[in-house]
Amino acid sequence: MSAVHDSDNERVADWDPYIARPGNFFDELFVKLKPECEELIGLYEDSRSALIPLAHLFQEHEGYTSPNALAAIAHLLGQPLSVVESTISFYTLFYRKPVGRYMLQVCRNLSCLMNGAEEIMAYFREHLGIGHLETTADGLFSYEEVECLASCDRAPCMQVNLRFKYDLTPKMIDDMLAAMRAGTYDVKPRPQTKAPERRWKVEAETGRKSAGGVGVSNPNNAGGVGDRSGVIMLDRIVSDTAFAARSNERLAHEPQLRPSTGDGGHH
Ligand code: FES
Repeated sequence: MSAVHDSDNERVADWDPYIARPGNFFDELFVKLKPECEELIGLYEDSRSALIPLAHLFQEHEGYTSPNALAAIAHLLGQPLSVVESTISFYTLFYRKPVGRYMLQVCRNLSCLMNGAEEIMAYFREHLGIGHLETTADGLFSYEEVECLASCDRAPCMQVNLRFKYDLTPKMIDDMLAAMRAGTYDVKPRPQTKAPERRWKVEAETGRKSAGGVGVSNPNNAGGVGDRSGVIMLDRIVSDTAFAARSNERLAHEPQLRPSTGDGGHH
């Protein structure tokens, strides 16, 4: 099957380090960024440590981390693609699909919820006319509700194109959206090398949040208030004696896992 070259939302990498395609956007971007990539890699003792800086670099130019960018990073680092994908997919810092010029990521975690994040999330949804993991029809805004952004002391907070905005109020959101629409906001819009789709939710509702989480949660569930995944998982663990038995068995077979008693284990 031939690779997709000109789809607006390609899902599979078509970049090949050994084939030059004159006029191809990504091929030209790669040639342009290669010296900077090599400089970044040279900063680290272990080249793998450059994985995240490289992903930021490609995302800054493409507006998202495309399949081609992931393939190029794997090539540059001499790592399997799976290593790059599993790292990048862990962070909401990286956008795996084309997104709007403003990526609005509102924290939905505990401190923010206790300080009014629910109202902030509802306000964004209402005023943008979109929900979690969606983009406005004009391609200007993408909206996502994310886990703790590590600024709990300034809750409720969010990131706009990865820049922090703290102590949010509905009035701040009004001003923010108006300034973005007028092109006067203090955070620069992102480059948009591909048109975003309306939503980037997981298509099949059969995914899991974790290996043991079958049936626990819908990956399209925004989580936060009302998401009982954690509670359900906890119930399963405490009421399932097999978990305890398995962990004891592991301790018996792998003595190095036993907690140290401080006296070499002799009593
Ligand atoms: S809970 Fe929102 S930043 Fe930590």
